[in-house]
Amino acid sequence: MSIRIEKQGQAMIVRLDNPPVNAIGHAMRLGLRDVLDQLDGGVDRVVVTGAGSAFAAGADAREFDAPPAEPHLPDVIAALEQCPVPWIAAINGVALGGGAEIVLGCGYRIAAPGAQIGLPEVTLGVIPGAGGTQRLPRLVGMKAALDIIPQGKALKADEALAVGLIDQIADDPLQAALALDLAIVSDRPAVSAMPAPGRDDEAIAAARDAANRKMRMQTAPQRAIDLVALSAELPFDDAMQQERAAFLELRQLDQARALRHAFFAERGAKAPASLKDVAPVDVRSAIVVGGGTMGAGIAYALDRAGIAVTIVENDQGAVERAGVNIARLAEAAEKRGLMSAAQSAEVKQRIAVVEGYGALPAADLAIEAVFEEMAVKHAVFSALEKALPAHAVLATNTSYLDVNRIAAVLSAPSRLVGLHFFAPAHIMKLLEIVEGEATSDVALATGFALAKRLKKIPVLAGVCDGFIGNRILTRYREQADMLLLDGATPWEVDEAMAAFGYAMGPYETQDLSGLDIAYANRKRKAETRDPARRYIAIQDRMVEQGRLGRKTGVGWYRYPGGGGKVVDPLIEDLIREEAHFAKVARREFSAGEIRERLLAAMINEAAAILDEGIAAAAADIDLVTLHGYGFPRWRGGLMHYADTVGAGAIHERLQRYRKEDPVVWRISPLIERLAESGGRFADVKPAE
Ligand code: 3HC
Ligand code: NAI
Repeated sequence: MSIRIEKQGQAMIVRLDNPPVNAIGHAMRLGLRDVLDQLDGGVDRVVVTGAGSAFAAGADAREFDAPPAEPHLPDVIAALEQCPVPWIAAINGVALGGGAEIVLGCGYRIAAPGAQIGLPEVTLGVIPGAGGTQRLPRLVGMKAALDIIPQGKALKADEALAVGLIDQIADDPLQAALALDLAIVSDRPAVSAMPAPGRDDEAIAAARDAANRKMRMQTAPQRAIDLVALSAELPFDDAMQQERAAFLELRQLDQARALRHAFFAERGAKAPASLKDVAPVDVRSAIVVGGGTMGAGIAYALDRAGIAVTIVENDQGAVERAGVNIARLAEAAEKRGLMSAAQSAEVKQRIAVVEGYGALPAADLAIEAVFEEMAVKHAVFSALEKALPAHAVLATNTSYLDVNRIAAVLSAPSRLVGLHFFAPAHIMKLLEIVEGEATSDVALATGFALAKRLKKIPVLAGVCDGFIGNRILTRYREQADMLLLDGATPWEVDEAMAAFGYAMGPYETQDLSGLDIAYANRKRKAETRDPARRYIAIQDRMVEQGRLGRKTGVGWYRYPGGGGKVVDPLIEDLIREEAHFAKVARREFSAGEIRERLLAAMINEAAAILDEGIAAAAADIDLVTLHGYGFPRWRGGLMHYADTVGAGAIHERLQRYRKEDPVVWRISPLIERLAESGGRFADVKPAE
């Protein structure tokens, strides 16, 4: 039934009980209706609360693909609101979405100090569909409702009390509800019967502006604003019909499907079943080798998770630079109000930076983040193997190097695993966990356990050049450069991808991260480059002219005075010159064609990655593209998007492009197979 009922004196306690988070599914709706049907005169109040630590996480989103089944949640809530016996919410933990809407239907609301109440529906591509858009503005006013609903926000108990969303905070909300003087409740109108809020045009405009900035191109936030605004215009029942229609319409749109997919893919990101019985190393202390961009970020993240960290650097100058890098991170956190001045000082003190391996403390894990050169990596791991106890897991943060070759320097290569963080390492959620040929289950399990502690999203990857994310990125950038040579401009490419939903296009992104890393990578690979593959030298020339991006004030764009980007005609001259050398007749590209080509190049590479077993599932590639590379979340990730286009249509495009260049457009056999069978990437099973 998903609910448990208990009588205590004249009170009936209804516990929402659908572990782990009391999602409100069909069984729970039926259970609540039964309670309403069976209430008798001996009950003076119904106290609704959650079993376990949550109140209710909202409607069960797993039911959103099926047709709606009666009783519908808005009807259940209307019935409990109208019930002659007052319903009191004892909010013991999170009350989200439909959970918060049950709360709004109750006559009185008491929350535990640690509870959270919110309407996150827009993050799943829908709007509150059980009265949230109409009851909340009546209860807290239009402005406060617009601060919550279109942004999918949850309020802490004290914030909820401050805006009037709840009536009381109590350490034990259930006891407080049982002890409540019912005279307080009987005097108040139901929330739906409260006067309509006044229309607030300023708040509506501000909400639209925020939604356009933070949830650009998404339908649900705008619809949520429309509906909240409607609460000032229409009678409650009429507005409720509109809310219901909007909810049912939105939940089946591509955006909602994509956002649900992303939500469940994130929850599915955990260690593979094969590691179920493997005990990870309990990481209490760690060594980070290299305190540069990545090492400092990784060390800082480990420290925040309560792991004792020591950074190793090569010489005194580098030791000092690493110290400065850590100090910067701590001070930035202090500035953003994430920690106090005292805490920030403690972080700086706690993270030790030492020179050489002579005086390393015994550690359970070492993560290497030194220069991207095999010889340097080998020297580091040889030293670590000598310096650390045998149980310690050794990890490399390499972006592109062969993890098997790195491990070969160890006498026990099974200790080595790739832990590929993304910059900035203390913020970015993605962690690629790279399994080498020899990597032990313990090393892998330790990687997954660490991801959990760092609150990161782990994705298992096999060994290849660039693993999952950077291998796809290489094709994205290569294809973009080809478009430049063939006739597009960097700004056209950037605009086309921003119009697809990326926060910024590939060239603006490169300017931000700096062109030098990719340059060094290209130089390193120059000797092994496939001579039959087109090579575009534009970026090499830029780096050689000192155009490294924002850090030099000039890259693909100019950044006068360190400000915003400005188009630079010199870049067009450079591109034209390269096209002339390459004897290319340039032509125009529409934004649509730019987009199709770039996405086709990425999807083709991703399909190969899936087919080769480098990624275990299409959803893993989705997580990598969403959390490491800015793919628009409301498109669900690269492979989810590919499935919405269809393998057949993608195959047809690739065949067209292949006629121009059969080397660059070598079609992944998986796409050929799926085009033939009509199958989906999402259903591809891991290679045996
Ligand atoms: N529907 C279905 N399953 C849900 C769910 C939901 N609304 N919320 C959580 N779950 C599942 C997760 O998939 C996960 O399942 P698994 O164990 O099989 O992987 C399990 O519950 C635990 O979830 P988390 O791992 O996320 O647990 P946390 O403790 O980290 O977080 C939470 C708990 C804060 C409640 C978080 O799960 C959450 O934010 N949930 C979604 C809340 C939401 O968006 N609600 C709105 C739903 S739409 C709605 O209510 C429409 C209504 O207006 C009509
Ligand atoms: P960086 O140049 O900022 O830092 C490297 C640090 O390693 C320097 O502080 C240097 O003094 C130190 N170092 C070099 N040799 C050493 C040795 N033998 N012993 C101890 N310390 C040594 O480089 P960055 O960007 O932090 O990259 C480090 C690694 O992380 C590389 O393998 C890179 O490919 C990878 N990576 C980089 C990402 C990025 O966005 N910068 C993202 C993900 C991975």
